[in-house]
Order: sequence, then structure tokens, then C-alpha cells
Amino acid sequence: MQITTQTTPILSIRDLSKTYRSREGDVEALTNLSLDLERGEIIGILGPNGAGKTTAVKLIMGFIKATRGNITFNHEELKAAEPRPHFGYLPESFRPNPNLTVGEYIGMQYNLALPAGTMTNRGETATKVSTLLNQVGMEPFAKRRIARLSKGMGQRVGIAQAIAGNPELIILDEPTSGLDPIGKSEVIDLLLELKNEGKTILFCSHILAEVERLCDRIGIIVGGNLRFLGKVDNFLAQHQADDLDEGFKKEIKCATL
Ligand SMILES: Nc1ncnc2c1ncn2[C@@H]1O[C@H](COP(=O)(O)OP(=O)(O)O)[C@@H](O)[C@H]1O
Ligand SMILES: [Mg+2]
Repeated sequence: MQITTQTTPILSIRDLSKTYRSREGDVEALTNLSLDLERGEIIGILGPNGAGKTTAVKLIMGFIKATRGNITFNHEELKAAEPRPHFGYLPESFRPNPNLTVGEYIGMQYNLALPAGTMTNRGETATKVSTLLNQVGMEPFAKRRIARLSKGMGQRVGIAQAIAGNPELIILDEPTSGLDPIGKSEVIDLLLELKNEGKTILFCSHILAEVERLCDRIGIIVGGNLRFLGKVDNFLAQHQADDLDEGFKKEIKCATL
């Protein structure tokens, strides 16, 4: 007897396309992106600069309107400009107010993420802030001003604000970009911890090597087209490559032929 496990995707993207229109001409940034994200999965959307990764993320977040296609979350269609209360988000350029302390900022984000009409008090906020900062290893720096954080610490604060509303789905745009090797490794470990807690994560990155150990599946996007979607091992086998960087170079070569 064959046992089949049926999973329902948390997020379904179908034929998602975006053309930016401007006086200088049209830019087709994303073409017919389709993918299903399973609950508890980490998927990495990888591709070179200008591939359309941030466009995909902005469409998922509803910041921009798709030219074609649709997105459903738990079977409900998501519309552009509607709030995404179950999503946590780290933007590509994350620049919180530098004058706030880490604790003040996360407290504020926690309160902003509370469902409308929810009452909270200072004690509850303080407890939650310390839990969140603990989770990202930033509790010892709660009183430090954001302006005085290293890039890696700033990114960890960024992840803390992304999970402040206890989201079902976490969307991260280039979470390891600009970090030194230790900073990158720390962020990846942190994302793996979140995965172990059952979070579903979609992130995008133009950096490849470090994300290999993070992703259940990868999507390779070049020139707005999804060229591959599947497990890292299958991608390597398909390209007879030893690592993601080598496979990626071969893929880009194919894409430009
Ligand atoms: N607001 C915009 N108006 C016009 N073109 C844009 C806009 N945003 C992005 N693009 C273009 O769309 C393409 C994809 O960009 P983006 O999604 O930011 O790529 P990535 O995040 O992979 O680097 C690029 O060619 C970029 O120049
Ligand atoms: Mg980008």
C-alpha cells in the first residue's frame, strides 16, 4: 500500500508577473512566477542582482500590484495594499530609527503588530521584548542605541521585528547581505532555529554558498524567470556541480545563451 501525505501549501503563487511602466519604457521584472510554499518549509529565492527577487517579495507583501497572476495564503486570495497580519517582513534596506534603543524599537514594533483593539501594558511589553531579544541573541544590547549597532546586530534586530507579531510566515529580503562571515552564519543559525520552532520562511538572496544548509528548497530566478525550483541536491545533480556557486554559474550561462 502506498501512503501519500497530502500537504496544503500555506502560500500559493500562480503566474505572478510584474511589468514596471515608466516614461523611459517598460521593464518586465517578473514573468509567470508559480510556486507553493509548504507549512514549516524554508525556501530561498536565489538570483543575481536585478533578477526580480525584491519585486516578487513586494508583490507577496502587497506593496505593489501584480500585472498578472495571483497569490493565496491559506486558500484566501491576497490583494495588493491589504494588510498581511500573519506575515513578518524584513525589507532589503532595513533602517529603523537610529535614535531609539533596541528595546524601545522592538517594544514599539511589538505594539504595532498587536491585533487591533488588543490591550497591553508596560509589563507585558517588557516581557515580550526580552523574549524577542533573547531569541535573536540581542538581550544584552537592549539599552544600546540602534545607531551604535554593527550591521550583523542590526540584522538580528530586523529579524526580531519581523517575528514580533508571531507571524505564520516570515518573508526576508536579503537577510545576510552586507554581513561578514560570522554575521552571516549567526543569521542563518537564527533562521534555522525559527524553522525548528515551526515557522515557514521565504527569503531571497543574491549570495549562494551560505544558504545551502538553510533551504529545504531553492528557486533560481534569472531575468524575471524561475529557472529551477526544488532541492539543492537536485539542482547540483542537474548541473553536475559540486556546490551551489558552480551550479548557479552554469545556470546563468544557460539563461544567457
Ligand atoms: N520601481 C521600479 N521601476 C522600474 N523598474 C524597476 C523598479 N523596481 C525594480 N525595477 C527593475 O526590475 C528588475 C528587477 O528588480 P528587483 O526586483 O529589485 O531585483 P533583485 O531584487 O533581484 O535585485 C530590475 O531590472 C530593476 O531595475
Ligand atoms: Mg533585491
